[in-house]
Amino acid sequence: MNNASNMVKVAVVGGEGIGPEVTAQSRRILDWFVARRGVPMTMREAQYGLVPYLATGKVLPDDTREAMDEADAILWGATGGPETKEVPPAARKAGSLLSLRSKYDLYANLRPIVASPALSASAPLKPEVLEGVDFVIIRELTSGIYFGEPRGIETLPDGQRRGFNTEQYTTNQVRRVARSAFELARTRRSKVCSVDKANVLETSVLWREEVIALHREEFSDVELTHLYVDNAAMQIVREPRQFDVMVTGNIFGDILSDCAAMASGSLGMLPSASLGPVDRFGRRKALYEPVHGSAPDIAGKGIANPLGSILSVAMLLRLTLDRADDADLLEQAVKSALASGARTADIAEPGAKKLSTVEMGDAVLRALDKVAGKEREHA
Ligand code: IPM
Ligand code: MG
Repeated sequence: MNNASNMVKVAVVGGEGIGPEVTAQSRRILDWFVARRGVPMTMREAQYGLVPYLATGKVLPDDTREAMDEADAILWGATGGPETKEVPPAARKAGSLLSLRSKYDLYANLRPIVASPALSASAPLKPEVLEGVDFVIIRELTSGIYFGEPRGIETLPDGQRRGFNTEQYTTNQVRRVARSAFELARTRRSKVCSVDKANVLETSVLWREEVIALHREEFSDVELTHLYVDNAAMQIVREPRQFDVMVTGNIFGDILSDCAAMASGSLGMLPSASLGPVDRFGRRKALYEPVHGSAPDIAGKGIANPLGSILSVAMLLRLTLDRADDADLLEQAVKSALASGARTADIAEPGAKKLSTVEMGDAVLRALDKVAGKEREHA
């Protein structure tokens, strides 16, 4: 929360690909919560990616950097796509999503996997496998092989090329993300499954030892289990309902969360929150983004599913604004829109009417009005 006033500052950055389209719908949802529920936030929109690069020479122009620096929460759309080849790698790297996650130290990436009964007909897994699925993957986001040094591509004396990266974790890097997992589990079903590859990798041996030590020292009330990552991938598809909170390193979490998206019905539905350390005012910088990415094949067509972004707003309401009631309200509105048959192309069962991105935004806003109205009647 902002120190000078009660206003929470939100930077809204649509970015590239389908990012701006889906984020525009989330912006309407944010406006609804300010107007109708008095949620204390101010919003600042800023550009990211190819468009500002062509205008200013920077993917992350100064105005955007400032908006993100001063924000309590960033609502992020997406980055990437083939047209981004127009941006030279160095300019791209200077303001990349990875560098932003690192700059703000957003080490705990929460990806909730909740199956929607309304989508069981279009989901790739059987309805009986999806039933009751409700877990959260916590992916360590600012260390591991995505950041480890040395890294590079070199030419060997015999003319071959060799690419190399470094997987590494320290005690603190493991413990702080494990702490997030144990704390979250205490608010849920009190189960943590830690995922590693300790049968092969030293980093994973350390990971497992530190998770076990922290558990013994502070969280022995929480049930702790361990899985190797290959087995975890299989279990997510075989019986996803067994999980409550899953915690894992950067690259394993990247891969498993896409896999787990299928246990929620569609990648287009998946929100995420990336949280930094708690500062001396008790605040925690956060970035909220749909997991789906820039989807260049459908960008600009107005058919992308905005629900991953809209559900990221629910996480923002819950985690940054501490407005659990409003977060519940939004999640209920999404459920109710889906129950009444609202479908974008990615989640449409054969023969169903396919809504545009804007129409799905309309459907959620209508459902919000309805759910909020009902709440008032019962009050
Ligand atoms: C994700 C994405 C990113 C990642 C890419 C876009 C760098 O796949 O958020 O999962 O690997 O972290
Ligand atoms: Mg990914």
